[in-house]
Amino acid sequence: MRTQVAIVGAGPAGLLLSHLLDRAGVESVIVETRSRAYVEARIRAGILEQSTVDLLRGVGLGERLDREGDVHRGIHLQWPGERHHLDFADLVGRTVTVYGQTEVTKDLGRAREAAGQRIHYEVADTRVHDIETDSPFVTFTGPDGRAERIDADVVVGCDGSFGPCRAAVPNPQTWERTYPYSWLGVLANVAPSTDELIYAWHPDGFALHSMRSATVSRLYLQVPNGTDIAEWSDDRIWDALAERLGHGRDGWTLTPGPITEKSVLPMRSFVQQPMRHGRLFLAGDAAHIVPPTGAKGLNLAVADVALLAPALAALVDDGDEKLADAYSETALRRVWRCTHFSWWMTTMLHTSGDAFDAQLQLSQLRWVATSEAGATGLAENYAGLPIGF
Ligand code: PHB
Repeated sequence: MRTQVAIVGAGPAGLLLSHLLDRAGVESVIVETRSRAYVEARIRAGILEQSTVDLLRGVGLGERLDREGDVHRGIHLQWPGERHHLDFADLVGRTVTVYGQTEVTKDLGRAREAAGQRIHYEVADTRVHDIETDSPFVTFTGPDGRAERIDADVVVGCDGSFGPCRAAVPNPQTWERTYPYSWLGVLANVAPSTDELIYAWHPDGFALHSMRSATVSRLYLQVPNGTDIAEWSDDRIWDALAERLGHGRDGWTLTPGPITEKSVLPMRSFVQQPMRHGRLFLAGDAAHIVPPTGAKGLNLAVADVALLAPALAALVDDGDEKLADAYSETALRRVWRCTHFSWWMTTMLHTSGDAFDAQLQLSQLRWVATSEAGATGLAENYAGLPIGF
């Protein structure tokens, strides 16, 4: 096979990149190790920044998002005895939208299918070759066991932290932080007990009340690393959520319901630099991982490909290297902003067992929740800076 851009990975980054390239008249082929059904059902975060929504809308992907997405003006930030609403719309004139990554991926999948995008699902042994030349190629084994090869002008790794592309960059610089706690996440068939998300500091550990729709709630509990999910019955989960989220305080109640999915998620920060080597470019989780606090992962992937698509179009159509040469440095500015914000939200809200740290966290929370300067900083980062910042 021959194409202009070979994309490894059909998650939101790879699919959106192919969509943006197509609009710029650039052809691509995608390979993906999982099945389409798996990719579309994979549960991830559900908060879209204003600039992500604007971008999706601007490229014809806003129809169901506008109909079903739920615009939130801000978040609730709380600690025992106090709950404060931060209104991003008032503070920075920007909002966020609750719309699951699963839904973004389905919308992208349908749009790419309608456009006749070539996507090879359920492939194995994906490898990238000759990335230091102008004619790189990707090899893989198809679902029928046949060896395949895609020749391209450039290869883009949208294949997450376990894919082959990150590892194909020689001698990268990397930074990593593993946090001493994990999240236990549940999806429940019950109407959310809150209008907007609640981020709760509690001596037992952090809790988050999020949602996917008017009938589906998404909730999280801080748990120790290595937690066995079998130790957490549904009743134990709801009891812990009620305690940490403040059930019964000031007339607020948490309504439990049937849990349909539960899992333990590790928390990690990771950045790899550069995000380009020769004719291989990295985007999304292939280059960086953020802990989920603050919901930046998907938004960062979208920002990467929004920068990358015009850079690749100029490169493959006109031989103009300017934007491609600037991609890594430009993308990494936003990556580090979000890496800091996710780390800051994480370390402000999770208990570490240290009494001095706890007092600092409470003081920080009070400042963020009650000072306009503090609140504006959180709002600007959470609602998201404009793409290109
Ligand atoms: C989620 O809904 O999954 C979610 C929301 C906000 C976060 C993290 C996860 O900060």
